[in-house]
Amino acid sequence: MTSDAADRLKSLLPDQAVARLQSLRLADGRATLVLDATGLSAPARDGLEASVKSALEGAPGVAEVRVAMMADKAVQKIVAVGSGKGGVGKSTVAANLAVALSRGGRKVGLVDADIYGPSQARLMGTEGQRPVAHDNRLVPVASQWGVPVLSMAHLSQPGQAIAWRGPMASGALTQLLEGHWDEAEILVVDLPPGTGDIQLTMLQKFKPAGAVIVSTPQDLALIDATRAVELFEKGGVPVIGVVENMAGYACPHCGEVSDPFGAGGAEAAARSMGTDFLGRIPLDIAIRRESDAGTPTAAGEGPQARAFADLAGKVMGWLDAH
Ligand SMILES: Nc1ncnc2c1ncn2[C@@H]1O[C@H](COP(=O)(O)OP(=O)(O)O)[C@@H](O)[C@H]1O
Ligand SMILES: [Mg+2]
Repeated sequence: MTSDAADRLKSLLPDQAVARLQSLRLADGRATLVLDATGLSAPARDGLEASVKSALEGAPGVAEVRVAMMADKAVQKIVAVGSGKGGVGKSTVAANLAVALSRGGRKVGLVDADIYGPSQARLMGTEGQRPVAHDNRLVPVASQWGVPVLSMAHLSQPGQAIAWRGPMASGALTQLLEGHWDEAEILVVDLPPGTGDIQLTMLQKFKPAGAVIVSTPQDLALIDATRAVELFEKGGVPVIGVVENMAGYACPHCGEVSDPFGAGGAEAAARSMGTDFLGRIPLDIAIRRESDAGTPTAAGEGPQARAFADLAGKVMGWLDAH
């Protein structure tokens, strides 16, 4: 093929395809393109392929278009979501962060490492589903939100109290984390609350790329959040930043956010710890309702979905830079 013919075909391609083009050949009426698909989700890859085909099919001298996608073996990054204590919305933030990252085009998996109080099956609407094992490893349960999930809740009976002892607990954690996650580029892990041995072991064994700390605005919660930040740093896991959850009250009628507990505490605390502030998610009845219904807020539209999308954007930016 002359370079003229190559340039002519290349000029027909959408910019996104040009940016990812590795090679382009035209022989016997067949155009063969190799594209770098690194970091693209399956739907984005399909979209790219379709856009290339529609751009080149029918071009002079082209009878057939073949597209090959090359992707580096995904380098999986674990994002641990932690908190100094329970009840601050850590699981809610983890689920919505995972969904928002997926909407941002990343391949995401969600592990519920809170084996004592698992809640991701409910939050993701996958309650009652049972994962199968393949080669002695658990296959994550698909959710409607494009994010597969594994939780102890998928393995135990609903309502059954889980009273693990230390070694059993870390065995259970290991099974969840060593499931078939090969497809996921980012694994969001909802850690148990607090700063105990299990958290530390988990951090050392699975080496998260970074941690997101969730806190509510109250001083006491912020003191606990400080401990969580120290735990990660002690374990050699960089802290991506602090999210302030239940930050202000979103009026269910007008949507206006007021600040009964004051504002800016988590931001100031993050700054004094030398970590980034990743934004605030207001206390909004709709978040609680949607969480209980297994329809994560981040999957919808509206201001709170955008707040989670902003958070995901910051986490993606951090991951891409580290
Ligand atoms: N921003 C929010 N607005 C309203 N309710 C929230 C918000 N974040 C969490 N919740 C609710 O608070 C409760 C505790 O949240 P959860 O995510 O389970 O906390 P944790 O995992 O830290 O224990 C749940 O009922 C959840 O729906
Ligand atoms: Mg939780």
